[in-house]
Amino acid sequence: MAAHFSLIFLSLSALVCCSTGAFAGLSLEEQLRQLNDNYMEMKELLATKDRRLEALEADAIEQKSVIAALQQSVSGTQVAAANRQGTSTVPRSCADLKCKGETISGLYSIMGAKSVEMVYCDFSKATNDAGFQKWLGYVDVKSVPTYFYVQKNNSFTTQYVPIPFEVERVNIGGAMNLTSGIFTAPRPGTYFFAFTGDVRFLGPSTNILALIVELQLNGQRVGSSRVTESNTAGNVHSELTMQSTLNLIAGDKISLQITFMTAGGVSFLYDNPNADQRFNHFTGWLLEENLAGLL
Ligand SMILES: *[C@@H]1O[C@H](CO)[C@@H](O)[C@H](O)[C@H]1NC(C)=O
Ligand SMILES: *[C@@H]1O[C@H](CO)[C@@H](O)[C@H](O)[C@H]1NC(C)=O
Repeated sequence: MAAHFSLIFLSLSALVCCSTGAFAGLSLEEQLRQLNDNYMEMKELLATKDRRLEALEADAIEQKSVIAALQQSVSGTQVAAANRQGTSTVPRSCADLKCKGETISGLYSIMGAKSVEMVYCDFSKATNDAGFQKWLGYVDVKSVPTYFYVQKNNSFTTQYVPIPFEVERVNIGGAMNLTSGIFTAPRPGTYFFAFTGDVRFLGPSTNILALIVELQLNGQRVGSSRVTESNTAGNVHSELTMQSTLNLIAGDKISLQITFMTAGGVSFLYDNPNADQRFNHFTGWLLEENLAGLL
């Protein structure tokens, strides 16, 4: 405010000094009136400037508080980020749970490397005490339950195409498409598959008759199963069988294909739709889901 006042003083003295010339030839009364008029004008001007200054000051105060709020929010975010790094949002140990404020000892689920794990946390013990965290085992978490068991109800005689299935006994999760014969892994994890097929050889024949079925992962062979017959006196049946445990990623495709079949219609996968006996079976499950990277 000191600067403000000296400014007024300067303006007033300037007015007085500069105006001297304008008073020439006026009566004392007129000069006084003129001075008074000038003074009133100046007063009004100063009042306006004062109001503007006040408004500017209010503005500055407001901006200062906005800046302070912004600074606070930035440092709050930094602190929150630092906390997350320190304890992790997803608990990975009893120590993490303690940091999150858990105080009651008991069974807790924590995130392991690839799956959820069960631990016993004894919060009455110190964090570095051996008994603070006792590892118990894995928790079976499946984000998509996947179990299927399908069957054929008629014979199949085509090579190099996925074997389709007609009868659905179980298809929880719907990962198995019976029409296309293709199973699509919904989630990364370990899966089990088993196939049993009935191969029919038409005799009599002195040749060696054979049929091979392949289990394929994305069109590539995982393994094969073969049955052969020689010197068949008449029609014979042989069982094909294959089991497999595979690590799959989401989207991997599993199918079965006949990759060899003695020509001439003398060997094929057999089923009789009228007898309803169901000789061909394909079953699969998601054993354990890989949850790494999910959280
Ligand atoms: C199953 O496969 C068939 C044949 O490829 C296809 O037309 C159908 O849309 C598929 N079904 C599902 C549910 O994806
Ligand atoms: C074979 O299975 C399909 C699908 O379940 C069914 O529509 C059809 O009637 C069955 N055929 C015979 C002969 O059982």
